[in-house]
Amino acid sequence: MHKPDDSRSGVSRHSAARRKLAISLLLADEAATAAFAARLAGTLKAGMVIHLRGDLGAGKTTLVRALLHALGHTGRVKSPTYTLLEQYEAGGLHLCHFDLYRFCSKEEWETAGFRDEFNGRNVCMVEWPEKAHGLVPQADVEILFEILPHGRNITIRANTETGRECLRSLPN
Ligand SMILES: Nc1ncnc2c1ncn2[C@@H]1O[C@H](COP(=O)(O)OP(=O)(O)O)[C@@H](O)[C@H]1O
Ligand SMILES: [Mg+2]
Repeated sequence: MHKPDDSRSGVSRHSAARRKLAISLLLADEAATAAFAARLAGTLKAGMVIHLRGDLGAGKTTLVRALLHALGHTGRVKSPTYTLLEQYEAGGLHLCHFDLYRFCSKEEWETAGFRDEFNGRNVCMVEWPEKAHGLVPQADVEILFEILPHGRNITIRANTETGRECLRSLPN
């Protein structure tokens, strides 16, 4: 018999062997996305890698923007659509926000210094990690966004002990 990884409702059960922990949430509107981002902000640890997956318009950038505001950032948060990377200092963390939708050359990973940003200190939040498959380090936490007729469904999955700790410490 499988033991639940976590006893809270809404938490999926996985075999201990897979050592994953997942939570699904319904975010009814953008305000709900912002509220979740504020909860997530409090669980971030230096060095964490978070992959954000989902279609264009699913809410990945909205989440990062709200998370930065929750950490105290007061300036603009623009989508790194063309720059591929925007960086911030907020809440005592250095946060790298990648959008790799337009990433196309493996060489760029080195020359742009992207590899160096995954240094165990920066929090790296990566939209479209699949566009640089094999280059982006493994995610501690993956957030999958699904567009619903009204709102979004997200699944937050922890892949590492750091990620599991993050999910366990999410405030209600
Ligand atoms: N939970 C939600 N429910 C409905 N609309 C949302 C929700 N979260 C974000 N949005 C809206 O969806 C759009 C998401 O855009 P964006 O964050 O740029 O998407 P992505 O970065 O995934 O391409 C924005 O217009 C935002 O207002
Ligand atoms: Mg985006």
